Amino acid sequence: MLSLKKYNTDIEKEWAFVRDMPEDENGLTNPDHGISREDFEKELLPKMEKYEKGEDMPDWMVPETFLYLWDDDVIVGQFRIRHYLTDALRNGAGHIGYFIKKEYRGKGYATEGLRLTLDVSRTIVPEDEFYLRVNKDNPASLRVMQKNGGRIAGEDESHFFVRIAKGHVEKRNKSKAWLKHWNSYLGR
Ligand SMILES: CC(C)(COP(=O)(O)OP(=O)(O)OC[C@H]1O[C@@H](n2cnc3c(N)ncnc32)[C@H](O)[C@@H]1OP(=O)(O)O)[C@@H](O)C(=O)NCCC(=O)NCCS
Repeated sequence: MLSLKKYNTDIEKEWAFVRDMPEDENGLTNPDHGISREDFEKELLPKMEKYEKGEDMPDWMVPETFLYLWDDDVIVGQFRIRHYLTDALRNGAGHIGYFIKKEYRGKGYATEGLRLTLDVSRTIVPEDEFYLRVNKDNPASLRVMQKNGGRIAGEDESHFFVRIAKGHVEKRNKSKAWLKHWNSYLGR
């Protein structure tokens, strides 16, 4: 079963995942590539906890939540939510970033992971739209965004800027609740 979980669920698996994530793939960066087990637990985890609360972070940063996408007991991806926009984020990376481990790609994990992440983001992000950015040479990620209600709202030479309306996520959840109700009525 697929679920999104915060860091500190299984340190051993989270460390291996972060250590192996590339430093940069399609603009999704990981400054902690190759990190040691000790630094992961003693330095990175406490830093993530602080940054999520907005404590002791550099001025240019906004609080950020890191979530892992688990398929049963395997971490298949990582999703990040930046809690609100600055000018730099509005014209740049936006609210949400994600990465799926190479061997698990092409199985719908990013699509479903983004769906779950939008549900969480809804409760964090104050803006009416979620901002995302994708490289023009990354059609798989653009497709993932579009399958989650994303529309291209702008572009520059190398990126598309995508927006997902909060209303889309709420509407989708309402119809899901309705379907659940209907299914239970039908005894399914
Ligand atoms: C981009 C990424 C997240 C996609 O993850 P994934 O789990 O493989 O994505 P999904 O399987 O959910 O969906 C991929 C969709 O793109 C489509 N796709 C894949 N390659 C494609 C291509 N070259 N052209 C068009 N569509 C493509 C797939 O067919 C699928 O759509 P479908 O379900 O309608 O068939 C993953 O490749 C990744 O982590 N890349 C590195 C980091 C990154 O790029 N992050 C995003 C930054 S914006």
